[in-house]
Amino acid sequence: MNFNVPDYIKNIAPYVPGKPIEELEREYGISDSVKLASNENPLGPSPKAMAAIAHSVRNLHRYPDGAGFDLIQRLAAYLKVPPDRIVIGNGSDDLLGMLARVLLQPGDEVLVPDPSFLMYTIVAQSAGAVPIKVPLKELAIDPEAMLSRVGPRTRMVFICNPNNPTGAVVRRPALDALLAALPPRVVVVVDEAYFEFVRDENCISGLAYLDTRPAVVTLRTFSKAYGLAGLRVGYGVMAAPLAELLNRVRMPFNVNSLAQIAATAALDDDEFLNRTLGVVHEGMDFLHAELAQRGLRAFSSQANFFLVDVGRPADEVFQALLHHGVIVRSMRAYGYPRFIRVSIGLPEENRRFLKALDLVWT
Ligand SMILES: Cc1ncc(COP(=O)(O)O)c(C=O)c1O
Repeated sequence: MNFNVPDYIKNIAPYVPGKPIEELEREYGISDSVKLASNENPLGPSPKAMAAIAHSVRNLHRYPDGAGFDLIQRLAAYLKVPPDRIVIGNGSDDLLGMLARVLLQPGDEVLVPDPSFLMYTIVAQSAGAVPIKVPLKELAIDPEAMLSRVGPRTRMVFICNPNNPTGAVVRRPALDALLAALPPRVVVVVDEAYFEFVRDENCISGLAYLDTRPAVVTLRTFSKAYGLAGLRVGYGVMAAPLAELLNRVRMPFNVNSLAQIAATAALDDDEFLNRTLGVVHEGMDFLHAELAQRGLRAFSSQANFFLVDVGRPADEVFQALLHHGVIVRSMRAYGYPRFIRVSIGLPEENRRFLKALDLVWT
């Protein structure tokens, strides 16, 4: 049957998520596997978030607060920005979709770093816009190269900071220069899904430009550092008039009630956030040292994942690791046929990865 669908929809390559643990165990008949493939929080969800939800399940027969009042107020206090500049989403993915619906028209051009988070291309295509891939330079987003691709139809630029899958950051001078040179009609979406993990003091947040550059939108999520990926909560911070437009296309109850309550509570869970950062940073340093000892090149990263050059086809290594119950990501589809991406796990999970890699390697 022909649904009369535009070609730009038919041409979308579906997003392929990390392999779920349940699927691996079903397919291979194994148990006790380890997933280091989707940059999730290895400690689980924020305990304060879990406790808050437990008290709220009796209200599930009610619709959520469509305006997300409590969560937005809490975010406004936390970020020190007025509440009318915050839009909440069903994960930050949802914000990407809203931005595309509000800002993009067929034929508009959208600059996407390559490789980066694959959803940028998908949301641009879903609005009929044309994604223009701008290659990274030494695994980092190259604002100068992005600028060189700006044309009369450019409408949006994505900056993933730190960049997924490379973990490299954009520093202040580079972002300053890009913003100063872009025409005002170009909206810069700074995706900071992994910002909490950054240790590089020179990395700059999009929030720093909130008062001076109305065309900068900053996206954050509760899926990573706060451990709430399954609940789906993210938010965008932007100029109030743009937030007002996004709220017009936002589904009225896009963030469910448990997600709102959990996210509000998680923002008060400093203990959990600090523990998460400790586990991720120690795990990152441990794995880098161990891989160096094995003569493998691991790339430095400011996020909770990193790339490893395995020196042979990454798909093969990915498959071989699956047999040992360890899920990572092959980077072949991202243009790095010999790289895998590994999310930092608990200390025992990191050791499991190394043990499996040693078996695959020798
Ligand atoms: C760079 C980046 N942005 C956004 C997201 C989406 O996060 P969320 O769970 O908030 O939709 C991810 C998820 O992996 C990501 O890596």
